[in-house]
Amino acid sequence: MDINITTLTENTATRDFIAEWGLSMLIEADNKRILLDTGAGFSAAYNAQLAGIDFRSIDLIILSHGHFDHTGGLKDILTRRCKAIDIIAHPSIWEAKYSLRDNDRRYIGIPFMREQIEGLGAHFILSDEPVWYTENIVTSGEVPFVTGYEDTDQSLYRMNNNSLIRDNFQDDLSLAIKTDKGLAIFLGCAHRGMINIIRQFQKITGENRVYSIVGGTHLISASPERLDKTVAELKKIGIRKLGVSHCTGFEASARLAAEFKDIFFLNSAGSRHQLF
Ligand SMILES: [Fe+2]
Ligand SMILES: [Fe+2]
Repeated sequence: MDINITTLTENTATRDFIAEWGLSMLIEADNKRILLDTGAGFSAAYNAQLAGIDFRSIDLIILSHGHFDHTGGLKDILTRRCKAIDIIAHPSIWEAKYSLRDNDRRYIGIPFMREQIEGLGAHFILSDEPVWYTENIVTSGEVPFVTGYEDTDQSLYRMNNNSLIRDNFQDDLSLAIKTDKGLAIFLGCAHRGMINIIRQFQKITGENRVYSIVGGTHLISASPERLDKTVAELKKIGIRKLGVSHCTGFEASARLAAEFKDIFFLNSAGSRHQLF
């Protein structure tokens, strides 16, 4: 099965495309066109036009979690699409999310009301369980913490009964496609940890081989120990392609590039990759 990836939003961009803090990827596989995340603002819509992608041809949107930088572009996309579309997400995406750094509190949740985007044609399929979209394409559902060394970012919070508590990212969803070479895994921010996510997909699909990982890894806040363990685990699993984006951060990206050499790529806005 061929898989084509066009990255519409990323912190960096190639050629004439524009960069924006966030992530959005169009994934074409199994005769489906799936948009994973929407970026923060208008970059996904702008870059899609530049890449010749018509949002009316998309079959499904998946929102990886309820942060603005993965959901904020939705309004622009739905406005351009002009017809209804299914959106898979976890029910907790609607929680009010915040970052708290040096006493600077910022709202970083979805920047609009659910009713607003439903009025533009969004039809939500909210589930904490894996959702099989085709016989080969599945979302992670809620990802259990199994590795012991992957935790959520300490600066990220959610509102609970009028007080801020650490966000444990129940809503963190990823996507996997079963291929004859193993799993092709796509991450939004991987807030529950890339290796935890891999373990979840191995369990759901019964497939232990992981061919590729593409997307945001949230290693930006990982300790050196966690980064070491993640690299060791990816090597043990034997991944054959690693395309990192967004919240991977410069240091972790540089380390992964050095460790994985030819199989590594930086997944910037405007880049197109064929996986097989
Ligand atoms: Fe993000
Ligand atoms: Fe995030």
